[in-house]
Amino acid sequence: MQTESRLARVIQDEHIKGAGRTVEQIADDAREVMEKHRICLIRDFPLDPDQYLAFLGHFGEPLTNYSSLSELAKTDPHPQINRVKYKKKPTGAQSVHYVAGGLRPHSARSWRSPRPSHFAMLMVDPGWREVPEGERGESVVVGWNDLFTQLAERDGEVFQEHFARLSSTPITFQANNVREELSSQPVLYTLDDARGPYDVGVRLKQDLGDKIEGIRDQIPEFEAYRDSLAYLMEASAEERYFACFPMDSGDLLLLDNHRFAHGRLKIVGEYVVDGEARTNNRELWSVTVH
Ligand SMILES: [Fe+2]
Repeated sequence: MQTESRLARVIQDEHIKGAGRTVEQIADDAREVMEKHRICLIRDFPLDPDQYLAFLGHFGEPLTNYSSLSELAKTDPHPQINRVKYKKKPTGAQSVHYVAGGLRPHSARSWRSPRPSHFAMLMVDPGWREVPEGERGESVVVGWNDLFTQLAERDGEVFQEHFARLSSTPITFQANNVREELSSQPVLYTLDDARGPYDVGVRLKQDLGDKIEGIRDQIPEFEAYRDSLAYLMEASAEERYFACFPMDSGDLLLLDNHRFAHGRLKIVGEYVVDGEARTNNRELWSVTVH
């Protein structure tokens, strides 16, 4: 794997200490870092659902998790906390978060209106990581403003065309397992407090490339749109444009859900030690905040 990105360095260097401090103290520090970078890492945060939600309450309203709203197994530690854990051969409907593969960078509740302002992940157990880098379930984040600034430089006119198309074409798509009020904004949408031409909100779903096939009649110049979306999805999954680092137990990553996508590299779901099959016990708690 290549050298760590500038963003990955900044996130880790400017982390906040959580141990021995009140939720209020941590939230005060986190607010400052969020002002500056729109993303913030807290280390040694207590693995406690109530303190986690109390902390997030300083940034908005934690939303009811979507497995509570869906048909999936309800094993979450709290109605607002989504437990992301590998499950051995689940039956019936399967959440993408149980798959042992990677998760492409995506936005929390990309389909939803109003757009959720924040997303948080708290690593409870990093799981089995005795594998090469890139297969340890490392967390991935993409800062859209950074990405677009670099793509504008790299691709010039080509980028401008895709950016304009994705910014001006309203689309409406649904979640796979949840029914919520749907957004009809473009995938790239303007932000009231934008800090530059590329500081826009993005609502990207992991499988949006497939989704748009089913709604092609609402999209003018569909072929061109499909190309623009593919361009966005490929660029955001390019290793040199994302920040990637392993999270340890007690690491809490809070991010601006308009301005950052989140994802994960591969994890090994099942493995064998001394002839005995084991299941990776990696466990992460995610919460979407509005
Ligand atoms: Fe997610």
